Amino acid sequence: MKKVAFKINGRLHQFIIEKDDVLIDLLRKDLRLTGVKQSCDRKGQCGACTVIVNGKAVRSCLTKVAELDGAEVITIEGLGTPKNPHLIQEAFVLAGAIQCGFCTPGMILAAKALLDKDTNPTVDDIKKALRRNLCRCTGYKKIIEAVQLAGRFLRGELTPGQVRPDPKHGVIGVSHPRPSAMIKACGAAEFAADIQVTGAGELAAVHSPHAHALIKSIDTSTAEKMPGVIGVMTAKDVKGTNRLKYIVPDRPILCDKKVRFIGDPVAAVLAETREQAVAAAQAVNVEYEPLSVMMTPEEALAEGVLQIDPDRPNLCFTQPQIRGDAEAGLAASAAVVETDFSTQTNHQAPLEPETCVAYLEEENGDLPTLVVIGRSINIHYHMSMLQDAVGYENMRYEEAYSGGQFGIKIDVTSEGLTAAAALHFKRPVRYVPSLMESMWLTSKRHAFHMEVRLGADAQGKLTAYAIDFTVNNGAYSSNGTVIVNRALLMLSGSYYIPAIQAMSRLVYTNTTWGAAARGAGPPQVNYALESAVDMLAEKMGIDPLEFRLMNILKPGQPKSTGRVAEQWPLPELMEAMRPHYHRARTDAAEFNQKDGVVKRGVGLGTGSFGIGGPGDTATVAVELDPDGGLTVFGAVADPGEGNDSMLTQIAAHLMNLPMDKIRLVTRTTDRTTAAGPAAGSRITYMLGGALVDAIHKLKTAMTEVNAATSEQLRAAGKPTRYLGTKKNEDAGPLDPQTGQGPSFESQVHAVQLVEVEVHTKTGEVRVIKMTTAVDAGRVINPKNLEGQLEGGMDMGVGFALREIYIDGQTKDWVSFKFPTIGQSFEMETIIRETPRNKGPLGATGVGEMTMVPTAPAVMNAIANACGARVRDLPATPDKVLAALSLARG
Ligand code: FES
Ligand code: FES
Repeated sequence: MKKVAFKINGRLHQFIIEKDDVLIDLLRKDLRLTGVKQSCDRKGQCGACTVIVNGKAVRSCLTKVAELDGAEVITIEGLGTPKNPHLIQEAFVLAGAIQCGFCTPGMILAAKALLDKDTNPTVDDIKKALRRNLCRCTGYKKIIEAVQLAGRFLRGELTPGQVRPDPKHGVIGVSHPRPSAMIKACGAAEFAADIQVTGAGELAAVHSPHAHALIKSIDTSTAEKMPGVIGVMTAKDVKGTNRLKYIVPDRPILCDKKVRFIGDPVAAVLAETREQAVAAAQAVNVEYEPLSVMMTPEEALAEGVLQIDPDRPNLCFTQPQIRGDAEAGLAASAAVVETDFSTQTNHQAPLEPETCVAYLEEENGDLPTLVVIGRSINIHYHMSMLQDAVGYENMRYEEAYSGGQFGIKIDVTSEGLTAAAALHFKRPVRYVPSLMESMWLTSKRHAFHMEVRLGADAQGKLTAYAIDFTVNNGAYSSNGTVIVNRALLMLSGSYYIPAIQAMSRLVYTNTTWGAAARGAGPPQVNYALESAVDMLAEKMGIDPLEFRLMNILKPGQPKSTGRVAEQWPLPELMEAMRPHYHRARTDAAEFNQKDGVVKRGVGLGTGSFGIGGPGDTATVAVELDPDGGLTVFGAVADPGEGNDSMLTQIAAHLMNLPMDKIRLVTRTTDRTTAAGPAAGSRITYMLGGALVDAIHKLKTAMTEVNAATSEQLRAAGKPTRYLGTKKNEDAGPLDPQTGQGPSFESQVHAVQLVEVEVHTKTGEVRVIKMTTAVDAGRVINPKNLEGQLEGGMDMGVGFALREIYIDGQTKDWVSFKFPTIGQSFEMETIIRETPRNKGPLGATGVGEMTMVPTAPAVMNAIANACGARVRDLPATPDKVLAALSLARG
């Protein structure tokens, strides 16, 4: 043991510690300074644990407490409070640099260490100072701007009051700070791992090292005797169905008979500390009988192979889509491109691990309520899944602040095991899995293989599109059928294509399971279509921008589902992009005259993304409060997009109230009704639409009885609470033979321009600038909108160039190739606002938009730079070099 004394946030502390104690534990566990976050497995990869020691930004997970005698430590809690924030915290809030907020405390402290030395840093200085801090949400642009703004505040050139929008100048279309931004900036927003749970046991799971094996026996005897162990549970201890049923009941909380992918959970240990639980989990002895492994659809579809799921064949779903005669169209085309494309299995990579807390809440001797606090984006649906799986009805789900999700939380992850353990051990349970475990517990973006043929007539008009695609579903189905359907619903992208012929296949394999990931299906098929469009334009000698423009769908023409579009404001975006495109082409041509090994290229991609799918429904309630304020009740998850801003600004605008008079109740199943997931970019359109309807009903009632207050409403015999709904009446499945049928009610559109440099000797690709032109209808909050576009572009480039999840190999943020601030690039956004006919105040959604055209635009830019057409994502240097050598013959 050793005694050390040092200051934390100005207060001198004495600690008697073990020599290997690390600062993150002292701060988080002992002092409850939970603004310090942990994302990576203490490998120094994420920077979320950054604090300042003696003026330098350090990662507290790598800092030994024994070395801190006499030091001065500053955590986010020592900087400012929501009522009295530091200027850097103000700058991050006002710059719109905070989305989920999980990276924010570490970012702010890294920025402070820089700004304390230099209040006027260059962009390169900022990138260098923040190089160890990861962010998945923002694309880093607004973080860099926040540091620059903080510098101006610190230099006295500007005050926060001069930057903060004045509500007197309007509510809608103004970048008012998010209601939750300041508490995130001050480290005061509690994520699930930050919640103090008295008497909680800590959970750790035993995961399968095999991709496919029978479980012969599980010996827990050694583990049960280990220090601190409360108990070990296996499948027999889960009292419900032990199946998490998103659509089909195929995914166990704990595997009973067999494991189906590397990471499948087979047992769990509850212990007094996480370290004890992890140690005991390693002592659980599972005997497996390995089975043949099928990692690809080809292997899983081969003759005579094992069936992975006992109740469904490996080919678990097919859906064609046929409109017109594509074969005839292709045969009559003046030019046809025929090729194939593949995309990788990818991780959505939210920064926060899959943390969850569960406990039994007892009141007056009633049946206890099982309370689950987690990262859900669909609390009512997930609660019903949990009720069946763990066999317990009396339940409440509460959404904690969550550190991003990007589709990963479409399905239940750690909540199943946490809830089952709380019931089994009758103890409060905290499950704070490692990053590696979090990767095992969660879905991934599906890998697609696509064979395409695209034709055009002599004038360059598209004639027909044929696509045959196979989707690696992985070990469990989750919402795989939804992903395939979404790919078909948006198959023709931005274009009018007279004839369509598609066949889709979803195949069980022994890889990690696939589900939603930003865009959820369309990013994969749009990569194929937009690449083929560029290849066809080149074959026909037509400029890619003109080729796109002449083929864009016009209102009144059908999408691939046969449904006719009402609004399609994409040509305006193409025209807005035209001068940027020509500038970029000129710049690239000049650059390439230098005749060096680095070549510059320019690529375009378009995307038209559906919002408010067939039959989609949402409800929101509003209540006029006694003080004249308004409370909004709705299960509107906000894992970082800014849904709190959207609800607040719409409600304040329609009720003509100050924004601080709008109260939100959104995070608990007890006080809200089901509203669907915060997915598919649907929240603004669907929940915002339901809010508008609810407020309309309230105002109608107030007008009818001439009431201005809730008291007057009540006196006139009217309720003070009203339920609003929004529904896409075009409902039902696609026709199983033709894939024709209902479609999205609204669309968001984008044109993306990418400028890259390709090193023709190494194959390295560097994105130097991306410009996006987007029309998402009326803009509620411009900075929030830009934040979604910028984050999507950054994620799209990661998908295009680097990121991949490989079973058994991807273990952390380095092996995943998480995009860093050093790889960030210049971004420009062009916004057009065509009010949507059925959108709330004319708005539609936007969260996934720029994810859809980014990868093909990057691939088109690489091809434009050096002729290398990469048809298999990600375009790593070896693939670029291989494509280049193919192109050179
Ligand atoms: S937890 Fe310290 S760098 Fe990730
Ligand atoms: S705001 Fe940076 S990770 Fe979410």
